[in-house]
Amino acid sequence: MKADELRQKFLDFFQTKGHSVISSAPLIPENDPTVLFTTAGMHPLVPYLMGEKHPAGTKLCNFQKCIRTGDIEEVGDDTHLTFFEMLGNWSLGEYFKREAIEYSFEFLTAPQWLNLPLERLAFTVFAGDEDAPFDDESFAIWRELGVSEDRIAQLPKKDNWWGPAGVTGPCGPDTEMFYWVGEEAAPAKFDPEDKRWVEIWNDVFMQYNKNEAGNFEPLTQRNVDTGMGLERVSAVLQGKSSCYDTELFIPLFDKLEEITGFEKPRNERAGRIVVEHIRSAVFIMADGVYPGNVGQAYVLRRLIRRAARECRKLNYFGLFAEELAKLIIDNYKHVYSELDRESAKILEELRLEEEQFRTTLENGEKQLRKLIDRVPDFVEKKVISGKNAFDLFQTYGYPLEITIEMAAESGFDVDVEGYEKALAKHQEKSRANAGNFKGGLQDHSEQTTRLHTATHLLQQALKDVVGDHISQKGSNITGDRLRFDFNNPEKVTKEQLIEVEKIVNDQIQRGLEISFAEMTVEDAKEAGAIGVFSDRYGELVKVYSIGDYSKEICGGPHAANTKELGRFKILKEESSSRGVRRIKANVFPQEA
Ligand code: ALA
Repeated sequence: MKADELRQKFLDFFQTKGHSVISSAPLIPENDPTVLFTTAGMHPLVPYLMGEKHPAGTKLCNFQKCIRTGDIEEVGDDTHLTFFEMLGNWSLGEYFKREAIEYSFEFLTAPQWLNLPLERLAFTVFAGDEDAPFDDESFAIWRELGVSEDRIAQLPKKDNWWGPAGVTGPCGPDTEMFYWVGEEAAPAKFDPEDKRWVEIWNDVFMQYNKNEAGNFEPLTQRNVDTGMGLERVSAVLQGKSSCYDTELFIPLFDKLEEITGFEKPRNERAGRIVVEHIRSAVFIMADGVYPGNVGQAYVLRRLIRRAARECRKLNYFGLFAEELAKLIIDNYKHVYSELDRESAKILEELRLEEEQFRTTLENGEKQLRKLIDRVPDFVEKKVISGKNAFDLFQTYGYPLEITIEMAAESGFDVDVEGYEKALAKHQEKSRANAGNFKGGLQDHSEQTTRLHTATHLLQQALKDVVGDHISQKGSNITGDRLRFDFNNPEKVTKEQLIEVEKIVNDQIQRGLEISFAEMTVEDAKEAGAIGVFSDRYGELVKVYSIGDYSKEICGGPHAANTKELGRFKILKEESSSRGVRRIKANVFPQEA
């Protein structure tokens, strides 16, 4: 079964169980400052898991594109990826453990669905601790379905607890499903440490909200959140033990072999990292983020540069990313039309970044050469100091691995320990002034809600003053300020900023009521609402109106009246990444 068929089967199955299909949200979270990327299907649903009403109902399913960089060092083994697709089903206060587990079991094992043999399946349940008890209910349901006791492991929070996606938010115990990919028969007793048991699906029972104090408070609405890794399950269904052995990757390896002349790059960790990271980069850029030095833009830059570095290990030093990206776009555009729509921009940005990285390498190399030339031949123990290696990285972006590689060619060692120390010192410094993972909209505090409303006003005002081409490229709200990223080729002038600020304050003064209506995406578009319309045909969405001034597709929540915002002030306008500007602003309610 190919990945295309698997996506469809999953949605079909859950539709027969009364679920509505919702579309994949962008990889860049809207209005959530606690994480950089959408890391799971539940992530865009947080407001609904916390009790907001979802316009599509209480039983939902979809496939969602996700980015996780936490396991980046493991990419290149058989199962870890930075970009992946997650199949998920949700109950928002409807069914709970019994139905969720029964659905998972039926979809995995029934002949007309995935038809996976029970002999190859194993399960884990939460063992219990001081925060929550042993999940005997899930254990009993698996037993009723015919699973032997030996195949159900009871594990602690580290393994069988999910969420919150950020610092605060919904979470709870989970039960995970594993598939045996070993060549011999699956052992009767399940050993979760054995890598031949691959996790394929996770049913999370969200009963708690982790608050800012770190406490688990029971949620009034109990939800189910599940996630099944598309790449892993595709591999399993095709009898492969590695994610890299399916049609989602094989053509990319063929292409890489053609570009580099390196035989079978799929067998090399470096080859896997190259195609995997470029795939992630393409999807991130399709959602409007381009390489830069902060936040998502920086993660993207690192992915591309890491791919470029790994490609050198295949003894290839030329350009490769654009060719790979073209193929990735072709392979996925029937599922994610944004790839096609954004293709010209994606290819251009990728080329620019690759070229820029080459320049970086050339400049770094010159500096390194100077350091090397300074040391006379007769010195026996030739070393590049940790500080110098770190400066090369910090000032020229020249990566440590390449410093080591180049230095070795001239008989030099690099003081890696010294480098690590310099790096740690630097990181410690920047952590003190970061503070960007403070709680945000999820805590629904009054100030964040006001800032959310201010963000809508700001976007409309920018459209009025700067031009109708303005659209949101990212939004991040903490209790201290809003941050709004938008496309614009040049700096917004001082005069324009003054004008924007004035318009927002005028609208606040008008005391506009904020209200919402539920409608189809088509009707929202017709009504002139701001938002993403493509790929969402027929879907029901919430449209928030601020009086007659702004209309935007949005999950909420918002202030009730603009008067609550007080005075609006733009704090800063700066570049975010190529072609994207950033405004930071705040509202001062006491100055109403
Ligand atoms: N949110 C859960 C996960 O990512 C389903 O595993």
